[in-house]
Amino acid sequence: MATPAVRLRRATLHPTSRALSPLPLPPPRPLLTPSDLVLTLAPSAALSSRTREALYALFDANMASLSAGSSLAHSRVAKMAEMFDPDARFLILTSCERMPGAMPPTPRRVEFDDVLGFASFRFDTEDTMGAEDVEVVYCYELQLSERARGAGLGTVLMAELEGIGARRGMAKAMLTCLANNNSALAFYAKAGYTPDEIDPTRIAEEGGWEDVDSDGEDRRPDYRILSKLLN
Ligand SMILES: CC(C)(COP(=O)(O)OP(=O)(O)OC[C@H]1O[C@@H](n2cnc3c(N)ncnc32)[C@H](O)[C@@H]1OP(=O)(O)O)[C@@H](O)C(=O)NCCC(=O)NCCS
Repeated sequence: MATPAVRLRRATLHPTSRALSPLPLPPPRPLLTPSDLVLTLAPSAALSSRTREALYALFDANMASLSAGSSLAHSRVAKMAEMFDPDARFLILTSCERMPGAMPPTPRRVEFDDVLGFASFRFDTEDTMGAEDVEVVYCYELQLSERARGAGLGTVLMAELEGIGARRGMAKAMLTCLANNNSALAFYAKAGYTPDEIDPTRIAEEGGWEDVDSDGEDRRPDYRILSKLLN
């Protein structure tokens, strides 16, 4: 990923890049059905410690065994720091029991202890195979609780994330996915994601580098980098 210094330089050179700081945020709003689901968009700083714990717990329940021993294996401390980086934004799906027609509350501080799913993202610049970096909305996490899977909610979260990226003028949506996470890869393929030009496996397949060491060890990375053009 491009360094913060690159991002800062671009923001200084191009006033439009200030749109990379998406404030003010839209308020929480109902989604899908008028009564039982709420999608909240919030920056990392707005999340209460209870919500952070709930998001980390969902991530850990979904990913701990899948990523164990991989290059994306996580420790709690390092992952919490990465997940709740000040630049991170969250789309959080919760169920909301309220009267039909009543507006959902608009919390100043986001406070949830039961999360159906979430996506987290950052606006960033990313390497390309050419001379120019490109502005992207980078999806860091997409996590659905087991009980919420298979109902189209992952699709909803990604569509929302892509819509935000497109409105901010980002060229593409990007993400990293473990190569052994077959269900997620199938999901992303259905959502229109393809191996990015900097995906190591794609580069290797196109003959860009040898993916076997001189001693015969397979050194192909255990993750894929996928992207989808926006705008
Ligand atoms: C991957 C994940 C986000 C998908 O979310 P979801 O809400 O269950 O997916 P959707 O219901 O929107 O599915 C959309 C399409 O994706 C594909 N898909 C979803 N789950 C799939 C699975 N387990 N196997 C194969 N294809 C799948 C299907 O084509 C589906 O379309 P269909 O319902 O018409 O067949 C969710 O299963 C999840 O949170 N998994 C665990 C965490 C994870 O791996 N996150 C990704 C990290 S990179």
